[in-house]
Amino acid sequence: MGITADAAGTWRLGDRVVRRMGFGSMRLTADPDRERAIGVVRRAVELGVDHIDTAAFYVSPGGTLGVGTGPVRYAAELVRAALGPYREDVVVATKVGPAIRESGEFYEATTAAELRAQVEENLRLLGRDRLDLVNLRIVRRPGRDSVAERFGALAAMRDEGLIRHLGLSNVRVDHLDEAQAIAPVVCVQNSYAVDLRRDDELLRVCGERGVAFVPFFALAGSAREAGTFDDHTDPVREVAAAHGITPHQARLAWTLHQGPHVLAIPGTGDERHLADNVAAGAVRLSDEELSRLG
Ligand SMILES: NC(=O)c1ccc[n+]([C@@H]2O[C@H](COP(=O)([O-])OP(=O)(O)OC[C@H]3O[C@@H](n4cnc5c(N)ncnc54)[C@H](OP(=O)(O)O)[C@@H]3O)[C@@H](O)[C@H]2O)c1
Repeated sequence: MGITADAAGTWRLGDRVVRRMGFGSMRLTADPDRERAIGVVRRAVELGVDHIDTAAFYVSPGGTLGVGTGPVRYAAELVRAALGPYREDVVVATKVGPAIRESGEFYEATTAAELRAQVEENLRLLGRDRLDLVNLRIVRRPGRDSVAERFGALAAMRDEGLIRHLGLSNVRVDHLDEAQAIAPVVCVQNSYAVDLRRDDELLRVCGERGVAFVPFFALAGSAREAGTFDDHTDPVREVAAAHGITPHQARLAWTLHQGPHVLAIPGTGDERHLADNVAAGAVRLSDEELSRLG
């Protein structure tokens, strides 16, 4: 089979142990071929991936990626089709906060009732009685972006048994402080990459507190939703050449070297890219290479 996700080692999400090389499902919605998209998720699990990220608002055509053609497809529903009946050892993480109205317009859930409706939508799309992990994904608004009320609402749903574990997304250290005073936080999911370093301190704080740090856009970096690019920096190219790997694999290897608590969730709709991403978990970078990458 070649290199599997075992190569990346493991970390814990609450009471679950997952391999540090996971999979992000947002890109699946760009593929009009439903069976091919489902096949990518199944292949990820065959390769040992047991941490899959999704959201009810990953929808196409349009949606978060603003692309796609053909019938409506939801990443969470594709995950369900690929994995149901679910295996106990695969953790499916989802997120609430952002949502898309039928008109195609984005809005942010702020009340307990709106968040509950989103949790229920995720349960329905994923075909679960309980969600493994729900991240509260916020929009940062300086001065008025306390997470206490929203995280408290999710903590109440966790106590009810609708959610197993809670996390945060797109947050600062003060948000983590607030949330941890309410309920355990198993992960923080923020954008972070070799060229996207806004959250160095948050990554460090998560490590000190035993909280998983789960970067999104590890490959896309500052290109964000636009996806990956070939305009890599010289250090990334040089490190890749020295290891006989692609620059994308070098970016993922760098990501996993940022701490034992860092979990990668590269997104792809391409089985060859998936295999490359999983193989990046076996790459060991030297201290000299890491300092060259910055
Ligand atoms: N919490 C949040 O706010 C948030 C926001 C965005 C995303 N996310 C989550 O994070 C996951 C990762 O983010 P992302 O998918 O936007 O970005 P990403 O993983 O940084 O990059 C994805 C891009 O890289 C390409 N790619 C993947 N593997 C490749 C490889 N080995 N070689 C060359 N190109 C490769 C993909 O295209 P191909 O499909 O052609 O491979 C796609 O264009 C998402 O899937 C989603 O689950 C969370």
